[in-house]
Amino acid sequence: MTAAGLKPAPPVTLVIFGVTGDLARRLLVPALVNLRREGLITDEFNILGLGKQDLDDEALRSALAEFVDAGDPGWTKLRGRIFYLRGDFGDDATFQAVGARLGPGNAAFYLATPPAFFGEIAGRLAAHRLLDEDRGRFRRLLIEKPFGHDLASARALNQSLLKLVSEPQIYRIDHYLGKETVRNIMVARFANPMIEAVWNRRYVDHVQITAAEAIGVGRRGKFYDATGALRDMVPNHLFELLAMVGMEPPNSFAASAIRAEKTKVVEAVRKLSPSEVSENVVRGRYDAGRVGNEPRKAYSDEPAVDPKSRTETYVALKLCLDTWRWSGVPFYLRTGKAMARRDTEIVLQFRPVPCALFSHGGVASPPTNRLVIRIQPDEGISFDFLAKLPGPAIETAPVSMDFSYADHFRLGKLTGYETLLYDMMIGDQTLFERADAIEAAWAAVQPILDVWSRGRGRPQSYKAGSNGPKAADALLARDGRAWHSLDT
Ligand code: BG6
Repeated sequence: MTAAGLKPAPPVTLVIFGVTGDLARRLLVPALVNLRREGLITDEFNILGLGKQDLDDEALRSALAEFVDAGDPGWTKLRGRIFYLRGDFGDDATFQAVGARLGPGNAAFYLATPPAFFGEIAGRLAAHRLLDEDRGRFRRLLIEKPFGHDLASARALNQSLLKLVSEPQIYRIDHYLGKETVRNIMVARFANPMIEAVWNRRYVDHVQITAAEAIGVGRRGKFYDATGALRDMVPNHLFELLAMVGMEPPNSFAASAIRAEKTKVVEAVRKLSPSEVSENVVRGRYDAGRVGNEPRKAYSDEPAVDPKSRTETYVALKLCLDTWRWSGVPFYLRTGKAMARRDTEIVLQFRPVPCALFSHGGVASPPTNRLVIRIQPDEGISFDFLAKLPGPAIETAPVSMDFSYADHFRLGKLTGYETLLYDMMIGDQTLFERADAIEAAWAAVQPILDVWSRGRGRPQSYKAGSNGPKAADALLARDGRAWHSLDT
């Protein structure tokens, strides 16, 4: 048992397709180093990396060392357990070689490849009997997003995978679910009766979910130009946050109970009609500007971006959840690249008191209570409320109670993938997406994709380093509301 009271994961070989890519180098291997240091994987854990480059084991180990600390005891122990296999993902010989290396033990296959390869790799793994679970061994498939690019393709991918393996063997990854602060939403709600008691339409006026990024599209122009902000962030990361906020208390903390409650929320997102898409969805795209002190070129000038494309780098939308708890409470979601700063947060804005008894700087409607859950960076939770201004008059002033993770806990250099990889190895699917939840998410955004595919909804420009297009402010102003400032 480790300090955290967790047992080490069972012996397993993690086969990484696309081991020389960014994901493996920046996130997966550093996460495995952390797990090895903490004793959550042992010497019976191996990595078999597959790629097309002409490397050997040592060359791969050196390449993977780039994002880890050379002196880290986790790395020293893991390094010798990493092996390389050169091969083409479309070639049967590659899969024969994988089978020979694996032998009869446990294995997990991580598809860290472009999505176009998912179906083909899974098909060949199955054809070579590498996904068969017999004699007590497990064989699992890990799939990175994007899982499909619309409802039809997500359904088709689910159907083809489910012909090869059963649902309990599939681990669909949304890395937001590995974030401590995302998992803390459930604790904040279900371990604190005071919070959960007001978490409903009776007290909440509206909810805002923001994932603002300061980075542009960088070297991912080709992928991004074919994807856009909606597909890249909304049916996956933002909907995960939406589900955590919107869900009912599960009747246990078992994967099946939690996943069922989250899926119900996504299914309850009211589908927008074409005219509602025009009214409730804002599409934006960054122009040249400055993010902090850095000049940023316009999206259309980014490498590998088609200057004529209409891809959005920002989207804001107003959604409704048709549930007993949230009926009539709007959920405003926004995400964008090249914005003023990086800030992922959830804001619950509470309703005003029934009648204002106290004066507040001469204004009729003082600010209402607000709970801000800061997912990243500067992880924490703050609660804004009113207090009495010192002095003879009873006058109020806004104040804030603030909980910051850094003041209480050591988050360390976790990548978020530690939990996901460990959970996969112990067979806990709580933090992975179920087939029906993925399809429900695509079904919710499909009406928007349909309207845009008919040439409507041209992106509105916003300056790099700003808070997004003006139309996004108007979306809330129309309802007498405003976005929580990214500067505070
Ligand atoms: C990825 C998207 O899934 O999430 C990226 O493809 C985005 O475009 C990233 O930058 C955001 O993740 P995080 O953890 O930095 O919020």
